[in-house]
Amino acid sequence: MTTDPRALPGADPHTGNREVDPVTGYETTGHDWGGIRELNTPFPRIALIALALTVIYSVVAWILLPAWPTGRDYTRGLLGLDQGEVAMDRLQAIKTGRAVWLTHFEAPDFASLAVNRGLMALAMPAARRLYGDNCALCHGSDGAGGPGFPALADADWLWSGDPEEIAVTLRHGINAEDPDTRIAEMPAFDWMDRVDRLSLAGFVASLPTGKADWDSPAAGLFTQNCAACHGEKGQGGLGVGAPSLTDGATIYGQDPQTVYNTLTLGRRGVMPAWAGRLGEAEINLLALYVSRLSETKEERTQ
Ligand code: HEC
Ligand code: HEC
Repeated sequence: MTTDPRALPGADPHTGNREVDPVTGYETTGHDWGGIRELNTPFPRIALIALALTVIYSVVAWILLPAWPTGRDYTRGLLGLDQGEVAMDRLQAIKTGRAVWLTHFEAPDFASLAVNRGLMALAMPAARRLYGDNCALCHGSDGAGGPGFPALADADWLWSGDPEEIAVTLRHGINAEDPDTRIAEMPAFDWMDRVDRLSLAGFVASLPTGKADWDSPAAGLFTQNCAACHGEKGQGGLGVGAPSLTDGATIYGQDPQTVYNTLTLGRRGVMPAWAGRLGEAEINLLALYVSRLSETKEERTQ
């Protein structure tokens, strides 16, 4: 590469000066493409100023604000701002506010809590959020349930609608990995003759109508094989987690085909245990909330 300006293309070989465009007053680059020459327009000053300002701004920001990582730590800046700390402070404030009323749920007397209107006004919105975060995924945001997941917002219970009993279900779960879990198993009746299973399925499907034929052979099969868990007339409520087959509420479905599948394959729904994941007071809070879902649903529909 040469450094002599006189040797550059387009330069005057004696002075080294480039050709100057008479219209704009700018030098040309000296390249010539068949008579077309390119202006050597300088970079706009405004852009240079803007660039300089951003550089100045970032240097000031590095000094004042948290900026550079330094291994495990970071430069904190002279202003000492920390959004994380602000967030933790706010969270702590919420927690202390909640702790004041949440202590009532440590070892609750549900009946007296439920009539404490001031407490309920604080606790139930918090319970709704807790329910939304932990339970709505399976049981629906309004507790309506869905295929495989029982409705909580109705008066039909597998176990019981008492808050005390619901708290036990929440703490230890159903068929869950917890030493004290509730066990609820619908055994498979795949050994039973297929024709018998079909007629039994039809019989069970007719139970909610109240017009089931209790003199039929299928009714005999029911009494023999099913009544021990589901009740003499299929009414449930025997404390073994076997649902009522007469109330119209269903977990999996009560049409003949679904009942036939239930009979053939058995069922063993799992409700996770929440002890350890939620605090004792939170579990009791949720138990009260769930026990009241059926009432609040009636209020809403009235
Ligand atoms: C992973 C899904 C899942 C989640 C999450 C879940 N449940 Fe369940 N829950 C179930 C299933 C499945 C059953 C029914 C178990 C059975 O078939 O016996 C059940 C049963 C119940 C029952 C018993 C209902 C009755 O009629 O006796 C209650 C009460 C309950 N859940 C409340 C809750 C609450 C409160 C939460 C949130 C803390 C929750 N569940 C979270 C799946 C879930
Ligand atoms: C050992 C007790 C036991 C016996 C015996 C038993 N069941 Fe069940 N059954 C259960 C339990 C517990 C459930 C709930 C399973 C679940 O939620 O996962 C259930 C669920 C069902 C369901 C589903 C209900 C729904 O809401 O979707 C049907 C239908 C049913 N049983 C019919 C029968 C019939 C018919 C027989 C007799 C052939 C029978 N069961 C025998 C315990 C039993």
